[in-house]
This record gives sequence, C-alpha cells and structure tokens, in this order.
Amino acid sequence: MRVLTDERRCVGADLGAWMAAGGGAGLERALADRGGIIPAIEAAGLRGLGGAGFATHRKWAAVAAQPGPGKWVICNGNEDEPGTFKDRFLLSRTPHQVIEGALVAALAVGAADIVLYINPREAAAVAVAREAVAQWEAHPLLARLAGALGEAPRLRVVTGSGLYIGGEETAAVASVMGGFPFPRLKPPFPAESGVGDAPTLVNNVETLAHAGHILAQGPEWYRGLGLGGAPGTKLFSLSGDVLRPGLHELPMGTTLRSLVFGHGGGVLAGRAFKAVFTGGPSNTLLTAADLDVPLDFDSLRARGSRLGTGAMIVVGEGTSILRKTAEYVAFFAANSCGQCPPCKIGTHQVSRILERVEAGAGRPGDLRALENLAGLLPGSGRCGLVDGAATVLASSLRTFRGEYERALGPSGQEDGQEDGQGDG
Ligand code: NAI
Repeated sequence: MRVLTDERRCVGADLGAWMAAGGGAGLERALADRGGIIPAIEAAGLRGLGGAGFATHRKWAAVAAQPGPGKWVICNGNEDEPGTFKDRFLLSRTPHQVIEGALVAALAVGAADIVLYINPREAAAVAVAREAVAQWEAHPLLARLAGALGEAPRLRVVTGSGLYIGGEETAAVASVMGGFPFPRLKPPFPAESGVGDAPTLVNNVETLAHAGHILAQGPEWYRGLGLGGAPGTKLFSLSGDVLRPGLHELPMGTTLRSLVFGHGGGVLAGRAFKAVFTGGPSNTLLTAADLDVPLDFDSLRARGSRLGTGAMIVVGEGTSILRKTAEYVAFFAANSCGQCPPCKIGTHQVSRILERVEAGAGRPGDLRALENLAGLLPGSGRCGLVDGAATVLASSLRTFRGEYERALGPSGQEDGQEDGQGDG
C-alpha cells in the first residue's frame, strides 16, 4: 500500500487539494492531544529514514525535555547520497505532508522555528516548497498552532550550500546559521545544542512525512503496513542494472528479491544478479545470498549491512564491482569537508589506488595497502563520511577479491614493501 506516494496526495503546492485529500487531520489530532503525540510516534515504531534508523520518539522526547522557548525543527532535505532520490520527490510532488509532519513535530517538541532545509540543486523542490509554505501561512490551522505554542510559528525554506556534507545533521545546523557546513563532533547532539546552541530537532523529509499520517490514522495502522514486524512503508530508490529503476514505496521488510525481481523487473538484459550497493553506497554489499533478507533496519544490521537511505544500486554480471567501488570512493573523497586529516587524505589515497588498480596499472602491495586503509580509517573522522568509504571498500575487497586480483595480474599481487601509510 502506498502512503507517501499515493497519487491523491501528489498535489504539489496546492494546499486546498491537500486538505481535500484528507490533509490536516494529523495536525488536528495533534492539536487536540498534544501530550499524545510522542507516545503515538513511539507506538508506531517510526525510525529515522534519512539513514540511521534512530528511534524517532526518542529524538523528539529529547528535544521536548529541553527548556524552551527558542527551539528549532530542521526538516533535512539536503539529500545527495549517490543513488538516493526520494526526498526530492516528496518535496516537489507532495510537500504538504512533509510540512504537516514538521508542524506536528514542532508542536510535540515546542519549537516555533521550522526550517525546510533543501538542496539548492533541487530547484523544483525548492520552488514548490516555497509556494507550499506561503499557502500554509494563510491557513487557520497555523493560527491554531500559534495558540498552542504561545507564539506564531516561523516556517521557512533555507537552501544549503549544495554540498553533500551539508546533509550531515551538525553541518545542516551550521548551514541554517549561515556558516560553512562543517560537521562537528557529537555529543552534544543537536537535540541538546543545535541552531544558535538551542535544542534542535533534525529529521529527514521522509521521516516527517509519515508523522501526520500516524497521528491521523493511528500507530496500529502504521505498524500494520510493514512486513514481519517491521513497521510502516519505505521509499526505495532503485537504480543500476535493473529493468525498472525508480522510486518504489513498499512495506518495510520487503525482501531484496521482491524489490529487484518483482517491482524492479529483474536485472537488465537477463543478466545474472551480482550484488547491490545499499545505503547509498556506504555500507556492506548485499549479494545473491542476501536476496531473501527483509529490507528493514534490524534485518540488515543482523546481516552486517545497513538499510541506510533505502537506496539500492543493482549490479548485474558484467558490471565491475571494482569500477563502481572506485566511483563511490572518488565521490566520498571529493566530498570530504577536509577538517579531519584521515578522512581528507585517506579517502583520496584509497581513491588513487583504486583508480590505478582498475586501470590495470596496479602496483605490488596495492591490495595490502587497500586492506590496511580499510582497517585504519573507520572512526577517524568527526562524521560518518570516512566510515562509509572504508565500509564499501572493505566489503567489496572481501566479497569480490577476485576482481581486484584479476585487475592486478600476477605481478601486481606480489606482496611488495608498500603499505597504506607509504603509498602515494
Ligand atoms: P547517527 O547514528 O550519529 O545519529 C542518528 C540520529 O540520532 C541523529 O539525528 C542523532 O542526533 C540522533 N541521536 C543519537 N543519539 C541521541 C541521543 N542520545 N539523544 C538525541 N538524539 C540522538 O547517524 P547520522 O550520522 O546522523 O546519520 C547516518 C546515516 O545518514 C547513514 O545511515 C547514512 O546512510 C545516512 N546518510 C544519508 C544521506 C542522505 O543524502 N539522505 C547522506 C549521507 C548519509
């Protein structure tokens, strides 16, 4: 069953059409029972759909517990993870369910400043969101929210820097404050210290889009949408060597097989299935042995991988995992903010080695250098960027080592004197 992508809800910035399609009911319920909002989100089992899967009610409760006024809500729509294209759909096609969810969240935590933080490269999403915000400002429900909050909510669209790293939540906070999107160490979490040091709730667009529906239709309804105990639905960004790429809203807990071979129509040109980069491409690869794994946070974690943003990049036989890994590591290297030397230098070093191995110009010791770096880099940055690069590298080395060995040839596999530190 489609919830977020239901055609009736894809009304663009037209607030009247959104209300006619059942919009507003979640916020009405929230206004009628403010103390019941966080318990409802908890009972629904909603988790952070930007990638981490953190329990949404815990984050909301953490912000609600902080003293106010002055709190903020940031709806994080900086989406830039390779292979991820869900938030831009929600913001441009159905922005009101995102805004309504953000207003429900603002009421729950007691925040009057609400920011839709959007990647400026998504021009359509920015334009539609701006128009949608303007329409809310004239709506009586916003006046009722002002009554409940004790001050008029300030709802606005902020475009970030357009940099990938600007989606990291502490970088998003810095961006909203007008600064360069440098991530900082956590704790303190934004829930305690965010915009201007005020408690700030940062939630992904998809997470907030579910909140109004949960209030309107109840936690039981939401739980019942998922499979095998996993609650709700999930937007899967399906791409790569697959017949029907695109955005698929499916029950949380749908198997990888059902996604790729059922909804995705199978691998392109009848080729055999080889693997999936999940996440975006910052997690442990899934292979044919994982086809029957349910795609939900806990099942994938138990399998040693992660659901992440729900991006699934399919690789068929004939497509090089080594090539794809080199591309993704190059992306991470290009997008390091440069604050942490192991991230800035390490991702470039891995990228250089991967490029030359892939080009058939690998040197003795390259494989060992890659393995060393995959072991050394995790945990060495203040955000997760370097971890993502190291995880995808380690996973592809482990699972598709033959591709590396073939690219290196017999001489390249000789164990030379170079190691990760000495390679240049
Ligand atoms: P994280 O695990 O550090 O935090 C998850 C969330 O829980 C954060 O909002 C954090 O503030 C909150 N949190 C954790 N402990 C808390 C506490 N005690 N009190 C209050 N709040 C608490 O993960 P992070 O770095 O925020 O996100 C990583 C994920 O983001 C990855 O899975 C990755 O796939 C995804 N990602 C998504 C991108 C996109 O374009 N959508 C881009 C890059 C990464």
